[in-house]
Amino acid sequence: MKKLSTQSPRRAAVMAAALAACATPTVAALRAFHPGEAWNDTAGNVINAHGGGILHYNGWYYWFGEDKIAGPLGNTAQVGVHVYASRDLYNWTDRGVALKVSNDPRSPIHKGCILERPKALYNARTRRFVMWFHLELNNKQKPGYSAALAGVAVAEEPTGPYRFLRATRLEAGVWPLAPGSGGRLKRLRGAMNSDPKFLERDFRGGQMSRDMTLFDAPDGQAWLISSSEENRYLHFYELNKDYTGLTRRWTRFHADKFEHDNEAPALFFRGGNYYLITSGTTGWAPNPARCFRSPSMWGPWKYLGNPCRGVTRQVDTTFDSQSTFVLAAPGSHNKFIFMADRWRPENPIDGRYVWLPIQWEKGKPILRWQKSWTLRGWPKPNGR
Ligand code: DGJ
Repeated sequence: MKKLSTQSPRRAAVMAAALAACATPTVAALRAFHPGEAWNDTAGNVINAHGGGILHYNGWYYWFGEDKIAGPLGNTAQVGVHVYASRDLYNWTDRGVALKVSNDPRSPIHKGCILERPKALYNARTRRFVMWFHLELNNKQKPGYSAALAGVAVAEEPTGPYRFLRATRLEAGVWPLAPGSGGRLKRLRGAMNSDPKFLERDFRGGQMSRDMTLFDAPDGQAWLISSSEENRYLHFYELNKDYTGLTRRWTRFHADKFEHDNEAPALFFRGGNYYLITSGTTGWAPNPARCFRSPSMWGPWKYLGNPCRGVTRQVDTTFDSQSTFVLAAPGSHNKFIFMADRWRPENPIDGRYVWLPIQWEKGKPILRWQKSWTLRGWPKPNGR
């Protein structure tokens, strides 16, 4: 028998690593969602993908989100956009950092910037993956959330690496469109009852873009939706053919109620209608969710009420969370998963995820708390 002492140090190290791997307890596969509980990846580490969104591509789901660190710096981007992959939505494998912040102080995504709510789409025309996100600069001239930029990055693979292209205000010098008679769009110009004139103020330099999402509409048109005009109005922008820019066709959000001060937009399409879930604007503190419906992305939108059901505390705080995305459930055109963040601004890495099944009540989407739930046992009532 070969003596241990005659082994090369390299071989001994490899053996030791293999033994250590065997000794590591395997992480039990998850078979349900447990909203609000610490959610571990397949290596047993807590998933770090806040303000996230999901891309479904080639049988895999990719979850992109803000990588947060512990402590007061945690809400600034010290790492970048984290990505996880899954086939079943319960078990997620860490695929690393899809978009890294830069160590170069001249880069708009310089470490210490604020990089929030990343979302990615696959562009079939270019066969590239395109990520958009909300960016605030690590810059004393533009402190806090005053830069209000939309950033874009591209990759050849879903998990990246994503290459940062640019971050800008949006549609500089372009007035919005609004639905006119006979379904035609008309270009609005100049002052438009826009109080207190943030739209006009930002006309030349481009519109602000804060909380955002991407939405791939069923007609093939992709959209960027973001909070603008100091969060006064949401804006809906068409993405261009390669998804890395805009088309000059955009509109402001109009609804019969609650058209102002919406954040955290999340969209889905069902049965001929678009549905939009948002929050109000109370920083990291939760507030009541809002739900809207429209037959067109151009609006106008009808307010459907607060979708949350339960005790007052749950209804008033969206189950202590804020919307980030709505995902079509696997294998169904009718079932949707509401994804939200339970923020923990004092220790951001400890933020939790609240995923709930969207149910239906008198034709309106509603949310009820579930301690745990599964895709197979989709909680009732549903589908009316
Ligand atoms: C609420 C937004 O939804 C979050 O993404 C983040 O920007 C916080 N505000 C910052 O206060």
